[in-house]
Amino acid sequence: MCGIIGYIGKRNAKDFLIEGLRRLEYRGYDSAGMAVMKDGRIFLTKAVGKVAELESKIRGDARQAMLGIAHTRWATHGKPSETNAHPHADCFGNLSLVHNGIVENYQELRDMLVGKGHRFVSETDSEVIAHLVEEELKSCEFEDAFTRALSALQGTYGVAMMGVSDPEKLFVARKGSPLVIGVGTDEYLVASDVSAMVGHVSKVIYLEDGEMAIIDLQGYRVKTLDHELLEKEEQILEWSQEQAQKGGHPHFMIKEILEQPKSFEDALRGRLLVEEGLAKLGGLMPVEERLRKIDRIVIASCGTSYHAGLAGEYMLEEYAGIPVEVEYASEFRYRKSLIDERTAVIALSQSGETADTLAAVREAKRKGALTLGVVNVVGSTIARETDAGIYNHAGPEVSVASTKAFTSQLAILALLTLYFGRMRGMSLVTGKRIAEGLRMLPSLIEKVAEQSEPIKKMAKKYQDTPHFLYLGRKYNMPIALEGALKIKEIAYVPAQGYPTGEMKHGPIALIDEQSLCLFIAPKDSVYEKSISGLEEIKARGGRVIVITTEGNEAIGGKADEVILIPKTLELLTPILSIIPLQLFAYHMSVAKGYDVDRPRNLAKSVTVE
Ligand code: M6R
Repeated sequence: MCGIIGYIGKRNAKDFLIEGLRRLEYRGYDSAGMAVMKDGRIFLTKAVGKVAELESKIRGDARQAMLGIAHTRWATHGKPSETNAHPHADCFGNLSLVHNGIVENYQELRDMLVGKGHRFVSETDSEVIAHLVEEELKSCEFEDAFTRALSALQGTYGVAMMGVSDPEKLFVARKGSPLVIGVGTDEYLVASDVSAMVGHVSKVIYLEDGEMAIIDLQGYRVKTLDHELLEKEEQILEWSQEQAQKGGHPHFMIKEILEQPKSFEDALRGRLLVEEGLAKLGGLMPVEERLRKIDRIVIASCGTSYHAGLAGEYMLEEYAGIPVEVEYASEFRYRKSLIDERTAVIALSQSGETADTLAAVREAKRKGALTLGVVNVVGSTIARETDAGIYNHAGPEVSVASTKAFTSQLAILALLTLYFGRMRGMSLVTGKRIAEGLRMLPSLIEKVAEQSEPIKKMAKKYQDTPHFLYLGRKYNMPIALEGALKIKEIAYVPAQGYPTGEMKHGPIALIDEQSLCLFIAPKDSVYEKSISGLEEIKARGGRVIVITTEGNEAIGGKADEVILIPKTLELLTPILSIIPLQLFAYHMSVAKGYDVDRPRNLAKSVTVE
């Protein structure tokens, strides 16, 4: 959840650290802090709130150092406060540490250290690491003290640390929380997320669990905690600085919504063979023989990614003929899921770091299943731990509310439908029809997104609505769930998403003149069935915005507002019908004056259980 950034080089560390923190704020933002090393002394600054608060407090020598670490926090142990903000120190301020993850045995370690005379100032689990290193330093050098301290921890960590006894080095390590080293010319960055370093370095090294690195101006060494030296591959960092910034839009969310024609196309690029009616998925080639033998797919994911999985289930079962089950990743390891070596478990995750989804992958592997990752962040933990996978190529998604990652997940699930379908008897004609439908979608998405202004007016008109009901049937049932999630998370309005047919089994009781229903009813195979639900709402005085297919303007007589989407294949309609709902939630949040990109209580990447 939290973000780590570190710098060592010949330039001013503060500038890199503050910029990095700003880019990482989406991971968590109740407080932030920075420590720099200058002339063998550590200068520490912390602030509650946003990075701007921290920056305004940085004074004197802290503005001019060439080594430093910083952190943006999302509280797990201890309330948001300056004391609990990172970096943490030992008893005498001789070392400084930033930590992501959870130290499960922190209470036991803290009691032991207090018994030895250590004085703790924060309520955090992280502070024990600083005191453990301090304790070990009584009998060894910093590097050994660092590894010994980490070996005593149970739980997860991504850490960066520096100490006055070895003042020209930066120490980092990971176990369960991501840590990346950026390699520049005569300078190095470390971060929990590559988005903090794009534009500054062109090469990166992804640390694996159980690995640490010692970095100074001469270079870096990567080792295991048992001091075995490792040769790590430097990978090219392809994301541009421009991609990681807002590109002139007021918020990342609207930028990311409007990027969807491109991000969707990027997900298909080089993979869609329209004439052959095929999908070429290079990332699956190493496991292709095994994929031919699977008899079941389980999709494990959370939040928005879970909703994409539900739409994928409908596509895969209808067109590829494989039984599919979609599981909340947070449930997967707590129930007896019947999977074996003939099951493919697909982990859908934008970040590739969601703790629940990662745990599902590990559990699935333990049970012998083939694991596949559909992940946006290249080199993320899920991407590396799955047997094979497909990258979304959606570019960095910064806004906490997921939008372009969702539609790129749908693109990949449609590609998987073609891939498995053609492997299992789908005709060339059907394959070509789906491939052609996919090829057309970027321009259709663009057309839907052009309705941003009228949707903004609707959001303003209905901004005082106390509760929303989102309804959709068949392929658009998951879109009802996703639309409701969007409005809940950024506009803080109670909203429920249901299959249209379920309305009469309970939610209909909520309908009155105050309620607003977002009713998704494209002209598809279930249109007629859906419309009876619309009549039932109107009969009870409810207000309705209908999303339907162009040419169906007649629906206007039954609805308060109509949003039209272009015609496409039924299985692809969710890719169009979600766009107005993303825009509606965005404009509603702006109208209410909320912090769209950083909704309260939420973090972009949920790396704790
Ligand atoms: O990175 P992931 O796709 O694994 O994240 C899963 C959910 O945490 C995420 O989709 C969340 O629900 C979003 N904030 C929704 O907009």
